[in-house]
Amino acid sequence: MHYFIKTYGCQMNVYDSEVLAGHLESMGYSPTDDEEKADILIINTCAVRQKAEEKVYSRLGRLVNLKEKKEGMMLVLWGCIAQQEGAARQIKERFPFVDLICGPQALGRFPELLQKATVSPSCVIDTDLTGERECLPVKRGDSFKAWVPISHGCNNYCTYCVVPYVRGPEKSRLPEHILEEVEELAREGYKEITLLGQNVNSFGKDLQIEYDFADLLRDVDRVKELQRVRFMTSHPRDFTEKIVRAVIDGEKVCEHFHLPLQSGSNRILKAMNRGYSREVYRELIKLIKKLSPGSAVTTDIIVGFPGESEADFMGTLEMVKEIRFDAAYNFVYSPRKGTAAAEMKGQVDKETKTERIILLNKIQNRISLEKNRELIGTKQEVLVEGRSKNNPDMYTGRTRTNKIVHFASPENMVGKMLTVGIVEAKPWTLTGKHN
Ligand code: 5AD
Ligand code: SF4
Repeated sequence: MHYFIKTYGCQMNVYDSEVLAGHLESMGYSPTDDEEKADILIINTCAVRQKAEEKVYSRLGRLVNLKEKKEGMMLVLWGCIAQQEGAARQIKERFPFVDLICGPQALGRFPELLQKATVSPSCVIDTDLTGERECLPVKRGDSFKAWVPISHGCNNYCTYCVVPYVRGPEKSRLPEHILEEVEELAREGYKEITLLGQNVNSFGKDLQIEYDFADLLRDVDRVKELQRVRFMTSHPRDFTEKIVRAVIDGEKVCEHFHLPLQSGSNRILKAMNRGYSREVYRELIKLIKKLSPGSAVTTDIIVGFPGESEADFMGTLEMVKEIRFDAAYNFVYSPRKGTAAAEMKGQVDKETKTERIILLNKIQNRISLEKNRELIGTKQEVLVEGRSKNNPDMYTGRTRTNKIVHFASPENMVGKMLTVGIVEAKPWTLTGKHN
């Protein structure tokens, strides 16, 4: 019996798919790369932007044929799309061949739900906003790097974001559970771990203990055998000097700060409910650059938020040019049902949004290229993540600063930590030489 999981969206979804795979393997299923061979096909969905949602619906539409052809195949629609208000029922009506529809909180209940769906004549739905995420089986995607969730959900209610509605309020894991998991991964030979959460910096606040994210970073950094620690995503409002110092003092904590700016206009930041100003953000970056000059800073930016004027957008461009991010993930604002921004006046038209993102990407690409060119001639520590799909002699890895490096090697290098000399730079990647 085989399973196939298609994952859309963020790293938390990647991790959730690893848990779904863990459940299925403990039930005796094996993975397959061919969806036609699957006895269970899971689509793990993302609701953060309309585009991601449309991709899922068009895939579901195409799956009707496979479902008809393969009698007994179970089709599962998992994750954030299912959790949106009213969505599960609509999906059930539009795609009646789906067997099971579950939100992300059902992770611990998956085996029972699957059992129920197997015998049920109609689609089973579970969109309960509560659920246990501790002590679940995990089938890791890699043997050298691993995701370690430290919290789940979000309390920030940024006005554009659907996450607090679909993943629920923030719930931190107990520090001792996280540390046990990290220690076990290190013993098993994992070299890199990434601490995951929608807002890792506010870790522990809901536990009401005298222990915060900086303390966790320092404790994880002490785990022997481990070589690299990463974390994402951070919120500039909760990013304290204590955290910056824990990153810098940490031998294993990588010098990479992903700090979503979202907008460079104070008016828009306020409307987004981000809780910081461009001045506060600028000071934070100054502190990081002062304490850790070699570190990389990346960001997320949204253009075309409701009410964003030309002057607001210029404010974003100004910040981008001034801060000179190593990379920026730029998005066009996508209204999400149930969020405050979707109801705001002054929705920006599609053409303006497109013009703005094209200009922003152009400026950022130039900056990323200039920053990457500064690395030509340097030697970088690279953890090799995989082979290139087109050329089996080419490998891909990441520097401590999270930059992608391609290099050639006649030997299999996957999972190895190497020193690579940088010879060429592009906006999103580096090319290196390994001897
Ligand atoms: N529209 C566009 N981008 C969004 N993001 C979150 N919600 C939306 C939305 N409604 C972006 C933010 C966030 C990243 C993960 O996705 O920039 O940091
Ligand atoms: Fe969404 Fe804001 Fe929470 Fe990030 S911090 S998940 S953008 S609400």
